[in-house]
Amino acid sequence: MFDLKGKVALVTGGRRGMGRAHALALASQGAKVAVTDVDATECAAVVEEIKSKGGEAACFKLDVTSKEEVNRVFDGVIKQFGRLDILVNNAGIFSPKPALELSEEEWDRMLGINLKGQFLCAQRAAKEMAKNKWGRIINISSIASGGVGVGFEGAAHYAASKGGIIGMGETLAVEWAPLGITVNMVAPGAIDTPMIQAAQMPEEAMKAMLAQVPLKRIGRPEEVSAMVVFLASEEASYVTGATFYVDGGWLAS
Ligand SMILES: NC(=O)c1ccc[n+]([C@@H]2O[C@H](COP(=O)([O-])OP(=O)(O)OC[C@H]3O[C@@H](n4cnc5c(N)ncnc54)[C@H](O)[C@@H]3O)[C@@H](O)[C@H]2O)c1
Repeated sequence: MFDLKGKVALVTGGRRGMGRAHALALASQGAKVAVTDVDATECAAVVEEIKSKGGEAACFKLDVTSKEEVNRVFDGVIKQFGRLDILVNNAGIFSPKPALELSEEEWDRMLGINLKGQFLCAQRAAKEMAKNKWGRIINISSIASGGVGVGFEGAAHYAASKGGIIGMGETLAVEWAPLGITVNMVAPGAIDTPMIQAAQMPEEAMKAMLAQVPLKRIGRPEEVSAMVVFLASEEASYVTGATFYVDGGWLAS
């Protein structure tokens, strides 16, 4: 099961954290992987790790907020690997700030990277996937996304972007089902990555947060990648427009 041999995957924000884990996991199932990031410095190390395990991968510098750059890089990936089957829209930022202090620029930057960036990549990917009548788009949201999600102080702009991802993805799933493309969302809880480390949450606040998580610990990037690999696979053929929470039970508590 979950054999991705012959498939080509593109991961955004792939140099570190969960993006890196998704790239490694997809490659371990046989996919060729385009590892992309706005900061391409560490991408090469991810590519080397994939190659050292016998996989195939290449590194591309990609800022997801630029339509021109998205088109150029996707063209390059398709030229190098011949096709595109799987997109993991993972790139994102988290810069918490009280809503009363948020500037227009901070709002626009958050929505530009987290939401518009996912749309630009999904739209370009779908044009390619439609040619083969097969595609898998996996959009990374968050439990801070509204609806059944968790409200986070300082995350008005982040939660707006992550909730937007779910609404957008449900619509894309409906529009692109006739093209053979599935679109699903993965909404992680607290996962141990540089993003969480950079938030520099005080120890007491972290303890209080984890106390609400039934599994009583922070998640590992690989635990989210397992869901990504499933959704990327042939086995997920009857799954589309859905959001999967990988949160240690947080939302159930
Ligand atoms: N860590 C968590 O607890 C958590 C929880 C829920 C959701 N998420 C989401 O998971 C995804 C991965 O987060 P992470 O925790 O691995 O964070 P991370 O900061 O380690 O990785 C994010 C990556 O996105 C890249 N990036 C930023 N702006 C970009 C742009 N304009 N174009 C392309 N790449 C860009 C960064 O360079 C970085 O490599 C994000 O979408 C994040 O919002 C994280």
